[in-house]
Amino acid sequence: MDKLYKTNEESWNSFQKDFRVSWGLEDVYIKPTSLTYIDGEKGELRYLGYGIQDIISANALAEEMQYAFINGELPSREELRHFVDVIEEGYDLPEHVIAAITSLPSSSDVVAMQASAMASLAAVSDFSWPQENKGDFFAKMLGQMSAITAVSIRHSVRQKPRLPSPGKAYAESFLEALLGKSPGDEKVRAMNNSLILYMDHEVPASTTAGIVTASTLADPYSAVLSALAALRGPLHGGATEVAMSQFLEISDPRSVDAWIQDNIITGKRRLMGFGHRVYKTYDPRALIFKSMAVKLASDKSNAKLLSIALRLEEAGSQALQKKGIYPNADFYSPIVFSCIGIPFVKGSYTAVFALSRLPGWLAHFNEYLSLGGRIIRPRAIYVGHNERRFKPISER
Ligand code: ACO
Repeated sequence: MDKLYKTNEESWNSFQKDFRVSWGLEDVYIKPTSLTYIDGEKGELRYLGYGIQDIISANALAEEMQYAFINGELPSREELRHFVDVIEEGYDLPEHVIAAITSLPSSSDVVAMQASAMASLAAVSDFSWPQENKGDFFAKMLGQMSAITAVSIRHSVRQKPRLPSPGKAYAESFLEALLGKSPGDEKVRAMNNSLILYMDHEVPASTTAGIVTASTLADPYSAVLSALAALRGPLHGGATEVAMSQFLEISDPRSVDAWIQDNIITGKRRLMGFGHRVYKTYDPRALIFKSMAVKLASDKSNAKLLSIALRLEEAGSQALQKKGIYPNADFYSPIVFSCIGIPFVKGSYTAVFALSRLPGWLAHFNEYLSLGGRIIRPRAIYVGHNERRFKPISER
């Protein structure tokens, strides 16, 4: 395979000598932002200037923060009321969107179901970036995404569609639609805080993928489709799911050390939920998810998962110490999701991550375009064959 792409040794050698490509776009800045600040050395994260721990400690509502990302400031009560009214309009999904989910086999990946629903919304939109009433457009999308996520996860566990109902907080309406009843204040609060913790993270792969699409002035649904596709991979949001599978595979805290030896120390596998491009220390979101998991994991199976995770964190940190690799947000979040009662099926935890991230995605796409962002069109350095004559198939 390598050979296939290095067909011209001379150009390849000169490329290696003279050009620098930033693989993975590491340290490439694609836009200014006033949304999210990350200090990867100190492990600090702020949304619009507010520290993540402060936001959580102040019992912020997810919808207040969603408003802030979309409108640039925290809302007044009146502003929040209007915002919530528009979110609630989005709960009422058109039949064709529900059908785009339920016509898929129930064994399908839940993120793919969300994508199918987004594509069906794009299909009836006018395929361009909105110029007016963007705040309302995005608020309605937040309502639609809550309904889409609840219907998708329910479909994957063979339950009939149920839409969120108005008059309740965003987290509670979502959980009620998903689970058929409210799971109680503690779990609703955990859902609310998970929505906040995952709400934005500057320009990771999914946000960047969506910005690329938005930069063509495609419609917001299409930009979200791109972001969903990028989020799904196990190196990004898909890590929540693989981290959970890792805990289930280990199945006993006493097996952690042998598992680390066989898989991580040998370099056979990566420890999922560990490592980050930007953080060179503990991800502050992971610390909060961890404390939530410790508080919530009271039943036998979640307590067991938690003890595996705690032991794995210890052994993993020791094994990867030299590389400066620490737990990221996706390490403890699956345990929190499991404690909330969200069914663990293919893609379901990543889908909840996507639901949480939607305001951040929309805010970044819009910020990029509002600041005059140009169509994203980078270059690649040609290192292939020199010009050669095309031989018809009969001569080859
Ligand atoms: N387990 C074992 N080794 C790791 C891990 C890990 N989780 N993460 C990085 N490394 C090692 C690499 O093998 C590499 O070692 P080397 O220099 O000896 O070859 C070194 O650390 C640097 O790794 P890169 O892959 O170059 O780091 P990069 O910044 O490109 O990747 C990433 C970041 C993808 C998050 C990586 O740490 C990883 O694969 N983690 C596991 C998946 C994961 O948890 N993703 C979630 C990210 S957070 C989020 O999306 C909310």
